[in-house]
Amino acid sequence: MSTIPTEREGINGLDRATLCALPTPLVEAKRLAESLGRTRLFIKRDDLTGLALGGNKPRACEFVMGQAKASGHDVVIAVGPQHSNQLCAIAAAAKKCGMPAILLLLRGDDRVRGNLLLFRILGAEVRFTHVDPANIEEAYDQMEALADHLQKEGARPYKLRYGPLPLVGTAGYVMLMSEMLEQLSLQQSGGAPTGTRHIFVGSGSGLTQAGLILGDKVLGGGCWIHGVMLDGQVEQEEHERNVLKAVETAAALFGHDLSIGADDIRCLPGYGADDAAAETKATEAMKLAARSEGLLLDPVYTAKVMAAMIDQIRAGLIPPQDTVVFYHSGGIPAIFSHCKAEAF
Ligand SMILES: Cc1ncc(COP(=O)(O)O)c(C=O)c1O
Repeated sequence: MSTIPTEREGINGLDRATLCALPTPLVEAKRLAESLGRTRLFIKRDDLTGLALGGNKPRACEFVMGQAKASGHDVVIAVGPQHSNQLCAIAAAAKKCGMPAILLLLRGDDRVRGNLLLFRILGAEVRFTHVDPANIEEAYDQMEALADHLQKEGARPYKLRYGPLPLVGTAGYVMLMSEMLEQLSLQQSGGAPTGTRHIFVGSGSGLTQAGLILGDKVLGGGCWIHGVMLDGQVEQEEHERNVLKAVETAAALFGHDLSIGADDIRCLPGYGADDAAAETKATEAMKLAARSEGLLLDPVYTAKVMAAMIDQIRAGLIPPQDTVVFYHSGGIPAIFSHCKAEAF
């Protein structure tokens, strides 16, 4: 079993910017556990990572921006949707690193609230491309043209496409696993059950899940990482293949020689659908978390992950002696752009 250093320098000498306030708490959720008929259930509070309104993305941004800074870039340009948590983290990370951020937004809901409001508060330069998400290549052409222009003026732009962050960001999630395993072992020395540890995590690009799987393998944690699929358009098999590829590529990048197979990848489909049934489940999960633990979830990501976890528990798929961890990946701004008040 190899080890992952926990010092701020990061892993394998990778450059790392200090953006987060770590470790985030791992808290026991007794009232939520009781309402689900379990003995012990934990919440990893990465909504409290400490950059802007927190979330999982700042952990990856520490390594992405570390690399950008080390290679001499001095301005960040990123393409994405109007209400992207990732763009918010990128804008906040750029500012904390002393760089301007230019966001090229795809066509969408352009009411200034939620993340779109945060982009403004953060002082990012927001440009509305009016490009439909289906024609995203046009937005990339605009990004290239802007980067050429800035380069001619002497700047060194760092370009970020929509979708997975650069793979180096996965290092942030490998370190998250190291942090969480240490916290869990402290809890378990206090008498928690010793069964399998199940971690429920949202899986959009799949990088968070990939980093957790890799970290678990490297450290011999023996956890089951359940990736709740957040994009209703993607097939389960295809997504699982993508996550496996990300784990393998990140392992090679970070210098780990591991045997990882399809059996290590567990993805739960059906929660990312854009339909009334998925919305109802997510709303119920938001209510349960808020009313049992005072815990706020967002309707787009974390509520769906909680809904999947609840279903797995209620269906009896997690043995009673096993430990359950809900990974809270943030997304809080969406409460203020996507929630329908009448649902609560
Ligand atoms: C709040 C939140 N949770 C989870 C995810 C999924 O993370 P990943 O893209 O690493 O799978 C995202 C991605 O945008 C997110 O914003």
